[in-house]
Amino acid sequence: TSSYTINTILQNTKAGDKINLKGWIKSLRKQKENIFIDISDGSTSEKLQIIIAQNVAPKNISTGASISTSGVIQLSPKGQKELNAEEITIHGDCVVSDGYPFAPRKQYTPEYIRQHLHFRPRTNKFSSLLRIRSNAHISFHNYLTSQGYINVQTPILTSNDCEGAGEVFRVLPENQALVKSMAKEAQSLDEAFFDTKTFLTVSGQLHLEAAAHGLSKVYTLGPTFRAENSRSRLHLAEFYMLEAEIAFIDRIEDLMSPIEKLIKNVTKMVLDTNENDISVCRNDGTVNFAWLEKDFAVMTYAEAENVLKNHQEFENGFRTENGITKEHEFFLVKHCGNIPVFVINWPKDIKPFYMRECPNDTSMVAALDLLVPEVGEIVGGSLRENDLNKLKEKLPKDSNGLDWYMDLRKFGGVPTGGYGLGFERYLLFLTGISNIKDVIPFPRWPHNCNM
Ligand code: 4AD
Ligand code: MG
Repeated sequence: TSSYTINTILQNTKAGDKINLKGWIKSLRKQKENIFIDISDGSTSEKLQIIIAQNVAPKNISTGASISTSGVIQLSPKGQKELNAEEITIHGDCVVSDGYPFAPRKQYTPEYIRQHLHFRPRTNKFSSLLRIRSNAHISFHNYLTSQGYINVQTPILTSNDCEGAGEVFRVLPENQALVKSMAKEAQSLDEAFFDTKTFLTVSGQLHLEAAAHGLSKVYTLGPTFRAENSRSRLHLAEFYMLEAEIAFIDRIEDLMSPIEKLIKNVTKMVLDTNENDISVCRNDGTVNFAWLEKDFAVMTYAEAENVLKNHQEFENGFRTENGITKEHEFFLVKHCGNIPVFVINWPKDIKPFYMRECPNDTSMVAALDLLVPEVGEIVGGSLRENDLNKLKEKLPKDSNGLDWYMDLRKFGGVPTGGYGLGFERYLLFLTGISNIKDVIPFPRWPHNCNM
């Protein structure tokens, strides 16, 4: 008798095979002589039915309990594989009256389930999401390395605020004795350990640029942190970002094309392995990936502005100085036929210092946002300013310690461009799930970091 997962049972066994299996009881029906149990083990969204005689089954068997079982594979009258169990051992029972928050056969809202994050991985939809997330993560790595990109681990602790938006979390040592032993008289406490103010990274971009000046095509996929006071369905305080940086490019097209290919290829890779899981996540069961066969739309910021100005129905109208809001993003996507759309060439004053001016209009920078249906922005990127003097002018006054970044232009400099794709935003787009807190195992958002 060998140990199997439900996935390997469905793929690789035949009637008559003797197997062992471990998992959690999803549902349970008692009939006269037999008990019919649906079991899941995380290997697939499909469940396996187990049949066991009442007089052999443990008395305290219940939904949610963890079990081991062994028996023989047989075919149901409908031709589906099921397990004719000879015995079941309960590892841990699961009793609602003891405080387990999910009763058998009840449906719960995402908000309710989110209040019990530690139990969430055993719910059907979230286990599908975790399998999708795992494969999407690996597919980004597989696709980019297949295209010649080198994976570089950029630091989480950093002294820069890459985006200059003042959304950094500051990091301090907790051990006061250590701080006292390290701090020199005149130093402030938050310079005691590293000699500079230290933050959790908002973006690995600047370090990635250093790596691109030597490795040509690089990427990183790791956690990033932003202290934004936003409880929106699209913001997290800790999220994963895929960032890539490409050397020797100087046209915005050289950036759009790899982004479009990346998103289409990774989506196809995940659909190949997780189509059932994606259907589980989409409540209505519809899986509409028609956009995969179409070219992404492209419009300049100026064109987008015109479209928005000509539309009267926005809550607060459209004013250039307020920039493009979520409501505007959704409108632009609809306007382009509900497919992903690149908005390119943005006004310089609403974008970070490192972006490169457009050659024919120095009030604009060669930046892009990719907007998608249901989510809005999922990618932000740009060509980088590689003219040392222009960069010196734009460097924020309080950005100490970026001499090394200037050196990249001074010594062996090349034009580069890159982008950051919000991994959770991409998962929202892929799965149709509406709240970003439901696509990351343990979400962090304002007032919520207690587990
Ligand atoms: O547009 P952003 O701020 O771009 C950068 O950080 C660049 N330095 C990236 C680069 O060029 N290497 O962020 C990139 C993406 C956004 O498009 C969005 O998808 C996601 O990161 N993002 C968030 N996702 C979840 N929660 C938040 N609070 C996010 N903020 C940004
Ligand atoms: Mg952005």
